Amino acid sequence: MAKPLIAGNWKMHGTAVEAAALARQLVENEHSCAAVQLVIFPPILHLGLVALELSGSSIALGAQNMSEHESGAFTGEVSADMLKEAGCTYTLVGHSERRTLFGEVDGTVADKFETAQRSGLVPILCVGETLQQRQQGLTLDVIAEQINTVREKVGLKNICSGVVAYEPVWAIGTGEVASPEQAQLVHRAIRELLGSSGVSTSLLYGGSVKASNAAELFAQPDIDGGLVGGASLEADEFLKIAQLMT
Ligand code: PGA
Repeated sequence: MAKPLIAGNWKMHGTAVEAAALARQLVENEHSCAAVQLVIFPPILHLGLVALELSGSSIALGAQNMSEHESGAFTGEVSADMLKEAGCTYTLVGHSERRTLFGEVDGTVADKFETAQRSGLVPILCVGETLQQRQQGLTLDVIAEQINTVREKVGLKNICSGVVAYEPVWAIGTGEVASPEQAQLVHRAIRELLGSSGVSTSLLYGGSVKASNAAELFAQPDIDGGLVGGASLEADEFLKIAQLMT
């Protein structure tokens, strides 16, 4: 059984010095949550520096985004192979901020998932409904559509060897966390969509996770870990959340 995963998405925050210092604090205290696999997602520019801080530790490194293309004339983009070379083993794909602010559609997300796996990165596929979709009763349809587009592209076995993060858009960065029951219901539905191949696929919950609400979420049977944004920028808070997963 793989260790539960606690992922920290630093988004576009912090200087290089702050990124190195945060990584160092995590390394110094990683023994406090040895039963959990920590993965951090610094801004792309700081990956090399953070990789140096992480060398010799068991904390993994990931990218917040990557190109769906392998290489070529794609100005401003970063390839999966480049991320691997920088020390990444994970990448987020289809984070809701990529979808809503940068126009990433399900098809592109599926292409990214495939490219990531081809390069040996573990993709964390982010899915989630907007508040309006929830209010219209469309939550499970939206999630199924987001997952099925990737499944059609890469096949069930491959999607199941990645990670899926359920992040309701209305809970991201808002302080409004899904209730444990709301989250469990969607996680259960995702588990059912993946069928018997997805029994051991890691399903993370994300959206305003904090040390004060994580225990109840992590106690749900189909929640295997967390994708943490704001609260991952403080080493103490992030480590406290990870300790609640054990
Ligand atoms: P949040 O972000 O924890 O700040 O809500 C989660 C995410 O965007 O992954």
